Amino acid sequence: MTMPLRRLPRTAAATLVTLAALTTAAHSAVAADTLGSAAAGQGRYFGTAVAANHLGEADYTATLDREFTSATPENEMKWDATEPGRGTFTFGAADRVVDHARSRGADVRGHTLVWHSQLPSWVGALGAPDLRAAMNTHINGLMGHYKGQIHSWDVVNEAFQDGGSGARRSSPFQDRLGDGFIEEAFRTARAADPAAKLCYNDYNTDGVNAKSNAVHAMVKDFKSRGVPIDCVGFQSHFNSASPVPADYRQNLQRFADLGVDVQITELDIEGSGSAQAAAYTRVVEACLAVARCTGITVWGVTDKYSWRSGGTPLLFDGDYRKKPAYDAVLAALGGSGDPDGPGDPGGPAVTCTAAYTRTADWSSGYNGQVTITAGAAPVSSWTATVTVPAPQSVSSVWNGTPSRAGDVMTVRPSWNGTLAAGTSTTFGFTVVKNGSSAAPTVGGCTAS
Ligand code: XIL
Repeated sequence: MTMPLRRLPRTAAATLVTLAALTTAAHSAVAADTLGSAAAGQGRYFGTAVAANHLGEADYTATLDREFTSATPENEMKWDATEPGRGTFTFGAADRVVDHARSRGADVRGHTLVWHSQLPSWVGALGAPDLRAAMNTHINGLMGHYKGQIHSWDVVNEAFQDGGSGARRSSPFQDRLGDGFIEEAFRTARAADPAAKLCYNDYNTDGVNAKSNAVHAMVKDFKSRGVPIDCVGFQSHFNSASPVPADYRQNLQRFADLGVDVQITELDIEGSGSAQAAAYTRVVEACLAVARCTGITVWGVTDKYSWRSGGTPLLFDGDYRKKPAYDAVLAALGGSGDPDGPGDPGGPAVTCTAAYTRTADWSSGYNGQVTITAGAAPVSSWTATVTVPAPQSVSSVWNGTPSRAGDVMTVRPSWNGTLAAGTSTTFGFTVVKNGSSAAPTVGGCTAS
C-alpha cells in the first residue's frame, strides 16, 4: 500500500488499522510459547550455554533452536580452547557454536577473554611485559575473529576473591600486572570490537555482599574515569547452600544505577519440582523488574549435560522434557504456558495432522492416501476422519481400521499406532466414484 493513509476513505483506514492490530496480536500470541519469544516480548533475550560437541544430537539442537535467542559457548572460547600455544589460535569448536546460533538468528555472548581458569600453563609462565602483550594479543585475536558477531563479551571473569575481604583473586594477571590488568583488558577490548558490549562477569556477587561491593566500587570507578565498561554479568549458580539472595533485585538495580546493563549470565538452580520452579521465578522477576537487565542465560539446555548434572539445575530434563521450572520461567516471562496445562510431566501437547493425496485415478474410481504426522510429542494412538461426497462410496481400506457413521469414516491404526515425534505413517482407501470424482474431506486427526 503506497497510498498515504490520510487519502483513504475513512472506513478503509479504520479497517487497515484494525487488521494491523489483529496481526500484531496474533503474532505475539503465537510467538510467546517459547522462552526466547516470551523474553523478546519483554525486550530481553533468553540464552543458554551451548557445547559444540552436542550440536549433532537432534533433540539438543531442536530444543536449542526452538527455545533460545542467545548462545554462550560453554567452553569453546576459553583461552585453553582458543590459544593453546602462544600465538596459535584455534577457533573450530567456537566457530561451530557461533555459526549454528547466528544461522538461526540467535545472538552470541562471548565467554571469556581473561580468566584465571582454563588457562594454558604457558600463560602463567610469562613475565610481566610478555604477559601484558599476550593478554592484549589474546583479546585482539578473539575479538578480531568474531568482530561484529558478539552482542556482549565477558572481558574479565572472576577477578575477585570470595569471602569478606573484597580483594582481588590471585592469578597470573593479578599477581604480575596488578589491579590495572582489568582496566587494560577493557580498553583493549573496546578498540578490538567497538560494537560489542563489554562485561565484567563473576559469581557470588548476586546479592549485596563484600565481593559484590568490591565489584560495584570497581565499576563505579571505571565509569567515573571513562574506562569502557557496558555491563556486569551475574553468573547466578544457585543451590541450597547458595540460594537466590533476598536482595537479588536490589543488587542488580544498584549496578544498573551506575549506568551499566546487567545480565544473568550462567543461571542454574539445583533442585526439582515446585521449589526449583519458585527459585527460577524469583530470578526472572528480578530481571524483569530492573529496566537495564537485558537478558538471561541459563548454563545449559538439558540436565544431562549440565556441569552440575547431579543437581538437575536446568529447565529441561535429560529427555528434553520441560520441567516445572520451565513452565514457571515461561509464565514469569508472560508466555502462554504449557499447552498440556499445569501438573503435567511437561513437554509439548500430543497432536497429529492428516494430509491427503490422490494416488491413483481411473474412470470408475480412485485411490486416496492419508499421511498422519505426529506433532512435537510422541503419539501412542491416533484417529482421522474421511468423508466421501455422495454418491461416492469407500470399497476398501488398507493400513487402517475403519468404522462408519453416516458418510463419515473414522480410521484407526490397523496395528500399533505409535509414532515418534515428527514422524509419519499412512493409510489408504479405494473409492467407487458412482459418477462423481470430487475429493473427499480429510481431517479430524486426534492423537493421544
Ligand atoms: C564451566 C563449564 O560449564 C564446564 O563444562 C567446565 O568444565 C568448567 O567451566 N563459571 C564460568 C563458566 O564462568 O565458564 C564455568 O563453566 C562455570 C563457572
